Amino acid sequence: MTTSETTRPDLIMGDPGPTGRFGEFGGRYVPESLMPACIELETAFREAWADPEFHRELDGILRNYGGRPTPVTECRRFSEHVGVRVFLKREDLAHTGSHKLNNVIGQGLLARRMGKNKLIAETGAGQHGVATATAAALFGMECIVYMGEVDTKRQELNVFRMELLGATVVPVVSGSRTLKDAVNEALRAWVASVDDTHYCLGSVMGPHPYPWMVREFQSVIGEEAREQFRSLLDGSDPDVVVACAGGGSNAAGIFAGFADATSSDLVAVEAAGGAAVTTGIPGVLHGMRSALIQDEAGQILEAESISAGLDYPGIGPEHAHLAEVGRVRYEAADDERVLEAFQLLAKTEGILPALESSHAIAWVMAAAASGELAPGSTVLVNLSGRGDKDVAQVRDILRGRA
Ligand SMILES: Cc1ncc(COP(=O)(O)O)c(C=O)c1O
Repeated sequence: MTTSETTRPDLIMGDPGPTGRFGEFGGRYVPESLMPACIELETAFREAWADPEFHRELDGILRNYGGRPTPVTECRRFSEHVGVRVFLKREDLAHTGSHKLNNVIGQGLLARRMGKNKLIAETGAGQHGVATATAAALFGMECIVYMGEVDTKRQELNVFRMELLGATVVPVVSGSRTLKDAVNEALRAWVASVDDTHYCLGSVMGPHPYPWMVREFQSVIGEEAREQFRSLLDGSDPDVVVACAGGGSNAAGIFAGFADATSSDLVAVEAAGGAAVTTGIPGVLHGMRSALIQDEAGQILEAESISAGLDYPGIGPEHAHLAEVGRVRYEAADDERVLEAFQLLAKTEGILPALESSHAIAWVMAAAASGELAPGSTVLVNLSGRGDKDVAQVRDILRGRA
């Protein structure tokens, strides 16, 4: 894309401009006290993103510390099983075990540029919390992570990992005690500490500039994957690109590389119990206007999913827009199918996917079985993270049934 194209708000996956709107979605619905911080962040990001020195440092850390580029792996045995050719973009192999590191290294560098030496973050599955604690350790910053009490229990190991990395984990006991409530608490804490603290938000959600900025930090996934796929398959693009979507950052990151690939369908898979695009309606939450699951009175409903990282009643505003303009299709996978996908990928490929990423695998299995995906078609799945964090939870579920 040329510079003039990236500053056109009407362009698919372009720059949303100063109002931060993707069609009717996005914006900056925050208390007045947070407006200066959001504007400061937008200005800092615009300057940094146009600065070759910032990119040089970011790319260097992602390469030498983060393990990028992550490979694309063809899954021959899994493919034989399901009847379509499946390739995985291996974000599970990035340092800390998921795509979340791409975003936090970018935001950590920005915080340093803005002279802020404290990072706060929300986390669901714990992966974003672990990644933020990692960035804070690397940059010598203080770190506080807000995590719903329910999630501190199902992702106990990640809580300990964050503590080992020097972060303080604050269990959030309000509301459903999951990701939505952790975001509320982090926003509240940010209001009280904005002078020296950067809120390191973990997905393409929240007030402008987060949805756009986080997508840009994650777009490295799609840029790498497109090139890697083309070199594997004689210059062609995949028939379908699939990613799971909670807030939507790994999906936005991989889709950004394929937005203009006219021969590639893009599919995002939400948790059936938190399917904001397919079952939600527009509303305002966490500083953004987006698709949200809510009742007739506008009360936000509780999302329910086996995977803590997809247990969110909304989705980033750009996804609501991509659904509306028809560039991305939104599907849902239920917990049962997700468990099957988790086990099948492990047994056929020796790869334990995160429960979040297993949603994308589950959709591929269902779409191949129903004939929606033609036999032999090429499918690129963003394997957003590794499943080690989920092993104890899956063991408990499977043992409970035995
Ligand atoms: C491995 C993994 N994948 C996906 C997600 C969902 O986030 P997003 O939709 O922003 O990629 C999470 C969130 O914790 C995660 O840990």
